[in-house]
Amino acid sequence: MKKIGILFGKERSFPHGVIERINSKKIDGIIAEPVSISKVMQGEATDYAVIIDRISQDVPFYRAYLKNAALTGTAVINNPFWWSADEKFFNNCLATKIDVPVPKTVILPSYEHPDDTGNESFSNLAFPMDWEGIFEYVGFPAYMKPFAGGGWKNVYRLDSLGDFYEKHPETEQLVMMLQEEIIFDEYYRCYCIGGKHVRIMPYEPRNPHHLRYVADFKPTKERLKQMEEIVLRINQYLGYDFNTVELAIRDGIPYAIDFCNPAPDADIASVGQENFEWVIETAASYAIERAKAQKPGQDNLTWGKYISNSATKKALYK
Ligand SMILES: Nc1ncnc2c1ncn2[C@@H]1O[C@H](COP(=O)(O)OP(=O)(O)O)[C@@H](O)[C@H]1O
Ligand SMILES: [Mg+2]
Repeated sequence: MKKIGILFGKERSFPHGVIERINSKKIDGIIAEPVSISKVMQGEATDYAVIIDRISQDVPFYRAYLKNAALTGTAVINNPFWWSADEKFFNNCLATKIDVPVPKTVILPSYEHPDDTGNESFSNLAFPMDWEGIFEYVGFPAYMKPFAGGGWKNVYRLDSLGDFYEKHPETEQLVMMLQEEIIFDEYYRCYCIGGKHVRIMPYEPRNPHHLRYVADFKPTKERLKQMEEIVLRINQYLGYDFNTVELAIRDGIPYAIDFCNPAPDADIASVGQENFEWVIETAASYAIERAKAQKPGQDNLTWGKYISNSATKKALYK
């Protein structure tokens, strides 16, 4: 029997929906259930062939549990090692190397010193930094948002330099990206599962939360194909099994705005019935595919092209 476990936090509709969907398929030798953890011992395998992780970004204990699970043969969706390494600024940097259009973006040292550091800890930073060059490159209006974050937390829209000087102190020890605003005609949120299944959803971020998936625009066939290619390229390079990409269309060009969402919102109340059905069915089928392919005791993770291209270089140690 191969077990598929779902690890989740407060959310309910998606985890239970996926479990029910997998079990309703009545596939010989495969069952799904919520993950249950009673102890975690180094180097010891879990009962799960596959775990769909929806919460370890908020629970460091779970992240450590998942790395041990991965080491001992569980196919964890998404790869917990990559997720630990990844953040939004790096994703933008990578995008510039794989021909994915992204807004002009810089990263800023945190406004306040990190705990246990002081002025003398920063002798590698020019004083002052080239703020003029930074502002000239990004321009205003701009967005300022954490390099690692989500859920619209600490996301600022800045009209002017004055706005920046007023808001930056509020971010305290957070490391922020400063990013050109893309003034868009259309906006899309796109699920990508298994680096191959894409669902493109018109999304109107300027609407109140419950109406964001009610947009009055639809992509043309060409736009759809163009966006699908971008979404696939991003996810295949990063190596995410389950992620969303937000695309803002300006002058016919889709700019990738937010593509580091490895536990993307999949709640029926926000995405709506049709998108929910797609994400449940696709996640369930994909988890089954991974369970069938899983080989006990081996590495069953997905490693994206960025990492696998590097890993195929000659190893330094014999
Ligand atoms: N560069 C940008 N141009 C235009 N809108 C943006 C930009 N960055 C963020 N936004 C808006 O702010 C919202 C939240 O920012 P986002 O980068 O998605 O962060 P989070 O990970 O918190 O969702 C986006 O959905 C979008 O509506
Ligand atoms: Mg977002």
